[in-house]
Amino acid sequence: MNAKKATVDREGPAGKIADLIDAGYTCIYLLSFEEERVLRHVREMSSALFPEEVPLWTWSTTEGFQGPEPGPVKGQSVIEPMAALRAVEGFEGKGHFVLKDFHPFLSDPLVVRKLRDLHQEMAGTGRVLFLLSPRLVLPHDLSKDVFVFDYPLPAPEELDVAMHEELAGFSDRFGELLVVPSEDREQIVRTFQGLTEQEARQVVRLVVDRKKVLDAGVVDDLLEEKRQIIRKSEILDYIPKLVTMDEVGGLGRFKRWARVRAGGFTEAARKFGLPQPKGILVTGISGCGKSLAIQALASHWNMPLLRLDMGRVFAGLAGSPEESMRRALITVEAVAPAVLWIDEIEMGISVFSDSVESGATSRIFAMFLTWMQEKMRPVFIGATANDIDRLPPEFIRKGRFDEVFFVDLPNEADRKEIFKVHINKRGKDISEISLDGLAKATEGYSGAEIEQAIIAALYEAFAEGRDLTINDIYRCQERMVPLAVTMKEQIIKTKRWAEDRAVRAS
Ligand SMILES: Nc1ncnc2c1ncn2[C@@H]1O[C@H](COP(=O)(O)OP(=O)(O)OP(=O)(O)O)[C@@H](O)[C@H]1O
Ligand SMILES: [Mg+2]
Repeated sequence: MNAKKATVDREGPAGKIADLIDAGYTCIYLLSFEEERVLRHVREMSSALFPEEVPLWTWSTTEGFQGPEPGPVKGQSVIEPMAALRAVEGFEGKGHFVLKDFHPFLSDPLVVRKLRDLHQEMAGTGRVLFLLSPRLVLPHDLSKDVFVFDYPLPAPEELDVAMHEELAGFSDRFGELLVVPSEDREQIVRTFQGLTEQEARQVVRLVVDRKKVLDAGVVDDLLEEKRQIIRKSEILDYIPKLVTMDEVGGLGRFKRWARVRAGGFTEAARKFGLPQPKGILVTGISGCGKSLAIQALASHWNMPLLRLDMGRVFAGLAGSPEESMRRALITVEAVAPAVLWIDEIEMGISVFSDSVESGATSRIFAMFLTWMQEKMRPVFIGATANDIDRLPPEFIRKGRFDEVFFVDLPNEADRKEIFKVHINKRGKDISEISLDGLAKATEGYSGAEIEQAIIAALYEAFAEGRDLTINDIYRCQERMVPLAVTMKEQIIKTKRWAEDRAVRAS
């Protein structure tokens, strides 16, 4: 039997299910979107744990019981949830029963009571009930009787197997062997992380169908497909192409901070006794590079960047806010090491703070803060906030983030760098002296405004069919009224707030 047990990976989900059964659980809630994968794990667990075959039935309200005959009660006849539970109750001998999408029925007090009875009756009988569902709906009364297993997304090893199965399928079709070069394998598998197994297979199929290969040369295509899929989750955005540190003007102190910690997620850093970086909060004046800073950090650290849209979490487009948030965090953990960018985090905190929804808001924040504290996977939080008044004190408490940065309006030296970045980016050349002059003339301009002035100037030059001159930029810049003027009060307030709470990014 021991030899058989070795066939299940004790670290993986199948192993976890085996542990639960070993520990005597009879009712297990498997929280996952991935029915096929979960069923495969239940089978793996079963054959590893029990030398004699334990029959497995699945049940759904459309198909009734499916599995080896004779079933608890055959097929179509048992589509009522209560009848299904009674059938399990009356079953003799060992058996594993996977009830798919049972969550809607858990609002029925009779069903809840029956489950509680069953839970006790099944103890020691070798019968186990699994509730398999993408949503967690568990009445409080059941919380002691049902173990909830929040299913992780596939690990790299699982994705590797799935990828090879797909490739084998292609090899058959094309009549020639398709293999992943071993030196590219790790990088390619990493691009699938954060996807379900089905999604990863879909990405492989789409790209291989088009490119007929799977090597490092198609990583960009894979990433693009992955981005499309993560997008569909409607909460997370995968940002594939990031600005680099060199495309950010100024923010010297922030850049130094990020450079010093670039190796923070390596094994070597752990061995050296360093804790993993947790995250930063970047606050400051609009248009001065908060979002840019997070992107540059992810690109410098060579980590994928996922943006969490708090607005969409609370809009409930992809299920309840709690569910959306939970799913987002699971996805990010699966992609880890990764940077989770929460843009305008204050929106999420206070959108509903004065309404009936405030319960959900504080639950989500409690959930998020707990996760931040306890997460085991290397996920770095890059949060940005504009409206500091809306940030609750517990959020910026010392120790929560590694650092709270304040991004101010750029000073003269920083403005010069910003001009340089944006002029060079557009393939134009302006002398150092002219840059000095422009920087001097644009006191109070944000980075975004400097960029706008350059674009406007380019239009002028283009319309007149000649190349950009320094005077075009001067003219356009003079016509603008910078935010520093129109939002003076707000800016003064923000600076005052930041004085004793944040480190200047520049
Ligand atoms: N320090 C900078 N260096 C280079 N470009 C900058 C800088 N700051 C701003 N920009 C330009 O302005 C644009 C807007 O900047 P960014 O989105 O980072 O601002 P933000 O601080 O996040 O503003 P918001 O509060 O409006 O979200 C950038 O895409 C970039 O082109
Ligand atoms: Mg921004």
